[in-house]
Amino acid sequence: MKKIILFASGSGSNVENIVHYFQGDPEIVIAAVCTNKRNAKVLDRCDRLNVPAFYFNRAAWQQESQIHNILLSLAPDLLVLAGFLRKIPPTLIDAFPDKIINIHPSLLPKYGGKGMYGSKVHEAVKANGETETGITVHLVNANYDEGAILHQATTPVLPTDTVARIAEKVHQLEYAHFPRIIAALLTQT
Ligand code: GRF
Repeated sequence: MKKIILFASGSGSNVENIVHYFQGDPEIVIAAVCTNKRNAKVLDRCDRLNVPAFYFNRAAWQQESQIHNILLSLAPDLLVLAGFLRKIPPTLIDAFPDKIINIHPSLLPKYGGKGMYGSKVHEAVKANGETETGITVHLVNANYDEGAILHQATTPVLPTDTVARIAEKVHQLEYAHFPRIIAALLTQT
């Protein structure tokens, strides 16, 4: 059985979509969901979906060796960041080489980097008059949004699209592609 650990800081709609996608899969299981936000909606989703969830406060997250050991004890094959807003410490990156992936709601290298998350990304896409946007799934390294790109998918941006509409289109792309990309990565290894 291949094990995935998901990380999310907010709503967790991608987490829910990924959990549904792998429900009943004979080879892939969601071992746990981790969050750094005590009130994150993702925790309610995990309750409803019956998925084990862990909350780490800042002190626990900064105790790198502790987090490292907890995660290692779960023996994950892949760590998946889906809307996780805390930087991954170098010791974790070293402990799971090429096993941590992130989804970013733009076509990187455009609209990436520190501070570029959530609707800020879509606001910038709109303000710059882009005619398309999309998603990027990439490996996580020590810098925000800079690891090797594994997959991108695009959607058109119409002049009439609001920021909310762009966000909705990007979420639809995420739901359609992200679980499939995760499955492909796990079946290659
Ligand atoms: C997604 O758009 C993802 O690309 C980004 O954070 C958002 C998370 O959305 N990294 P949700 O919490 O899964 O609804």
